[in-house]
Amino acid sequence: MSLNRIDKFPLSCAVACLLCSAALFVIGGLPDEAPGASPDAPSAAAEPARPANIDGDSAVIEKDRTVPSAPAPPQGRTARNAAVFTRGPAWTGSIALTFDDGPHPTYTPRLLEILKAEGVPATFFLLGDRVRLYPEVAARIAAQGFEIGNHSFTHADATTQTSEEIRAEVERTQTLIHEATGRRPRLYRPPYGKHNDALFAVLHEEPMTVVNWSVDPRDWQRGETSDSIRDHILGGAHPGAIVLLHDIHKRSVEAVPEIIAGLRERGFTFVTAGELVANEIEDRARRRAVAREAGERGTEGGSPNSSGSYGNPDSKPVPIRIPLSHSGVKSKVEPK
Ligand code: NI
Repeated sequence: MSLNRIDKFPLSCAVACLLCSAALFVIGGLPDEAPGASPDAPSAAAEPARPANIDGDSAVIEKDRTVPSAPAPPQGRTARNAAVFTRGPAWTGSIALTFDDGPHPTYTPRLLEILKAEGVPATFFLLGDRVRLYPEVAARIAAQGFEIGNHSFTHADATTQTSEEIRAEVERTQTLIHEATGRRPRLYRPPYGKHNDALFAVLHEEPMTVVNWSVDPRDWQRGETSDSIRDHILGGAHPGAIVLLHDIHKRSVEAVPEIIAGLRERGFTFVTAGELVANEIEDRARRRAVAREAGERGTEGGSPNSSGSYGNPDSKPVPIRIPLSHSGVKSKVEPK
């Protein structure tokens, strides 16, 4: 199953979108994910179905810091040019830890304490049905400064639903998250990573950006342990990676301290998924601008080559460093 779908646009549209993106970025929004961009990461495995009910203790709300949620994609995004992000640019040297299917009344608060103690930011893709059950845990995630995304209401596969059903999943969850946290998420992770045009059309109305993942330790699988989850992540980690975990499993949460330590040992830093996506969007826009300028000068590099990237296929990509702070999202939870 391919998770990457970027429709082709005429070059003129690409240029127009690029100019529009630059303007929107200047005023503080995310530049649009212009068509014709290079493909995303290889396909990731789909998530499995999850049990509907989770029991546990109630959490104590702790409000000690807040950050804004990820910036929204700019106006102008349509279902036609929607994109799925599975990683950020490698030059950032950063990795984003993401946690799906919560909040969980016991494991999520435990995870928050670990992340806070380590000063590691993270992104939580919440299920509306769980936010309804545990709004105080959702509030705690937000209050402690972590990024929050929408992961549908019932964890249904959007490709099996009508547009009305998809809209209900998205909007009901947005409302519940907003009621619990005061935020309306700008990031959406579709259950199982599965998406189609109907979902993109609904997300365009918010607007929201689809974020999947590039490293999946399949922590939901029976037989997986904290050690195997840690080893899978440390073995598959790469600069710009978006790591998929689930804070509804004890073994996953217990693996986090060693995952953090191992990734730090390898030189990685941590950011939110929203930051990686914002950098990826801007990075692509810069690369397209470089390629366009090269094309206007009559030199090579004005269009995608056979490998799907721009420029001379034998040349290395031009590293363009963009401050991580541009997205407006606080990049790190300060160490205590
Ligand atoms: Ni999920």
